Amino acid sequence: MDSISLTRLVRMKRERQRIACLTCYDATFARLLESAGVEVLLVGDSLGNVLQGHGSTLAVTLNDMVYHSACVARAISAPLLIADLPFLSYATPAQAIESARRLMGEGGARMVKLEGGSQLLDAVRRLSDFGVPVCAHLGLLPQSVHRLGGYRYQGRDAEAAERIRADALALEQAGATMLVLECVPALLAAELSQMLSLPVIGIGAGADCDGQVLVLHDMLGASVGQPRFSRDFLTGHSGGLRGAVAAYVAAVKAGSFPGSEEILF
Ligand code: KIV
Ligand code: NA
Repeated sequence: MDSISLTRLVRMKRERQRIACLTCYDATFARLLESAGVEVLLVGDSLGNVLQGHGSTLAVTLNDMVYHSACVARAISAPLLIADLPFLSYATPAQAIESARRLMGEGGARMVKLEGGSQLLDAVRRLSDFGVPVCAHLGLLPQSVHRLGGYRYQGRDAEAAERIRADALALEQAGATMLVLECVPALLAAELSQMLSLPVIGIGAGADCDGQVLVLHDMLGASVGQPRFSRDFLTGHSGGLRGAVAAYVAAVKAGSFPGSEEILF
């Protein structure tokens, strides 16, 4: 597989070929995911929950992210590697630049992701001006869990939906080249996927996004109490781990994941 460029993902969006993305935190799974055809690997700060046992992503440090990103980067050749900027590592444009320098320089990431809307426009502009591809993240923002008051669906009333719409447009204009939409109503995610030129990757955001992402441990049935919008692709299926990941990729491509029972709003 050739190295998967952002240009290729934008072309996939235009041609309505869905993009398969999963989180990944280590070299062994990185190789497995690449061999099963996953196009985008996200070193998510969900590693705070999944690997470190915290109740949120807030304790994850930039050093943690650099370490796991480097583990994944060493193992892959084709997939696009995105790494999360952790909590408060991008509160100013200067801090965002320095954090991205480490994630891309030492961590080998090819894109960085940050959570939030209008407060990030200067940072996104600056990163983008200096050659850093930026993935935005709207809807449920796990780094803001204490402000949001829990892990809940976002954008369910007209005013909240309008804020997400406006933030998405502003982020794209500021230079964001990809967008993760987490836990927003399927209709809103479908509308944004049509409205924006950048690829929109959904999680708990319905089937009509340009791509899907799940937390690896959830879709392998390894998490106790996995979210209702996720699916266990391993239990009861044959083909082992690679088969489970390949089944996820196939379901994303066919538009059969998420199905109606995994679309909550
Ligand atoms: O950290 C993470 O795993 C994420 C995905 C859920 C999008 O940000
Ligand atoms: Na994250």
